[in-house]
Amino acid sequence: MAQKNVVVIGAGVAGLTTAFLLSKKPGYKIVVAAKHMPGDYDIEYASPWAGANYMPVSVTGTEAAEWDKNTWGPFEDLARNHPDAGVHFQECEIHNRTKDVGSATADWFAELLSPTPWFKDVVPNFRALPQESLRPGINSATAFTSVCINTAIYLPWLVSQCLKNGVIFKRAVFNHIQEASSSTIHPAGKVDLVVNCTGLMASKLGGVEDKAVFPARGQIVIVRNDAGKMMDISGTDDGDDEACYVMTRAAGGGTILGGSYQKGNWESGVDPNLAVRIMKRAVELCPALTGGRGIEHLDIIRHGVGLRPVRQGGTRIEKERLGDVWVVHNYGAGGAGYQSSYGCAQATVNLIEDALGIRAKL
Ligand SMILES: Cc1cc2nc3c(=O)[nH]c(=O)nc-3n(C[C@H](O)[C@H](O)[C@H](O)COP(=O)(O)OP(=O)(O)OC[C@H]3O[C@@H](n4cnc5c(N)ncnc54)[C@H](O)[C@@H]3O)c2cc1C
Ligand SMILES: *[C@@H]1O[C@H](CO)[C@@H](O)[C@H](O)[C@H]1NC(C)=O
Ligand SMILES: *[C@@H]1O[C@H](CO)[C@@H](O)[C@H](O)[C@H]1NC(C)=O
Repeated sequence: MAQKNVVVIGAGVAGLTTAFLLSKKPGYKIVVAAKHMPGDYDIEYASPWAGANYMPVSVTGTEAAEWDKNTWGPFEDLARNHPDAGVHFQECEIHNRTKDVGSATADWFAELLSPTPWFKDVVPNFRALPQESLRPGINSATAFTSVCINTAIYLPWLVSQCLKNGVIFKRAVFNHIQEASSSTIHPAGKVDLVVNCTGLMASKLGGVEDKAVFPARGQIVIVRNDAGKMMDISGTDDGDDEACYVMTRAAGGGTILGGSYQKGNWESGVDPNLAVRIMKRAVELCPALTGGRGIEHLDIIRHGVGLRPVRQGGTRIEKERLGDVWVVHNYGAGGAGYQSSYGCAQATVNLIEDALGIRAKL
């Protein structure tokens, strides 16, 4: 069979995971072309800012739950067998306040706050925590073993795996998706298929601008203090678009204190008042951070802001014919780009094979 020439636009977790899975198959020559690459920190590039962990919020029975489910196995394997990927196991506690029922965060977290979520048989050690172990104000809690991903190690690791499999990386900024199939991008001089993994900027890329894509702004503080586990809570007392969570990254990556979920907000600058609220809530949720002392005992590495690429209706994994090239889309994962990454990338690879007539028709 003739070599298939593929251009993946985007080097976030979506583009890199898709290129990685595709590069394991014979017969492809793959170019990843992107404005931002691992190592860059930019408001247009969500992936470096993520915690990141595996805490599914997808609803039982949906495609999204299927993608999340298919992603646990690969991350468990990385945490167990591939320390070079920067992924480790960490215990995870979800704290639940009855007063948060009906709030935006509690709705977003509905599945995570269920006593019987779909993933209870996927992640190890899922259990309810005894009521008497909870601090005042917490009405119930669940716990399980999950993973935390050090994105500063994991994204370059994905690049290295791709390089090992012959993938070519290039800087490029596209004004229109058609430019990705131009003869200057791919060494073969001709492109059979373009994969659209442009995240939030998809909302600006020419071709078809997707008005269903919008940002959910997440502000974080990275500290040297160790949380020892990951913790998340159903809500805060500081308004609907604020959240509270902590997680300690693998391999000296520091502890992420979050956060916020500010829909439609493109502000790249750190809000110092929000930063103080994030730190106050974090030491209350997780006193181990400062040994029960105040936020002045947090040792700050830096503040950060990232924009989750949310898409109304969920991640878009679809193929379409544009002129004489195929385009396969994988964008709009919102706050779940890591925890759905392998499931989404596998679904994308299946569509690539369908489009190119490689997968046997059943
Ligand atoms: C604070 C925060 C915490 C998060 N925590 C988690 C978590 O714990 N778990 C989890 O699963 N997810 C988490 N997320 C979500 C996760 O970060 C995103 O879902 C994921 O990073 C999206 O990846 P992506 O590859 O789609 O987009 P991006 O990482 O934004 O990558 C987009 C790529 O496309 C390129 N690009 C775009 N337009 C063009 C163009 N026109 N020309 C050339 N290149 C272009 C960019 O340069 C970039 O390389 C979090 C996000 C934030 C902000
Ligand atoms: C969290 O609280 C809500 C409201 O009280 C409740 O419906 C839900 O079952 C609780 N979750 C857990 C895990 O106990
Ligand atoms: C590519 O993805 C972006 C989202 O990042 C979307 O807005 C755009 O419509 C897609 N391009 C095409 C040609 O569909």
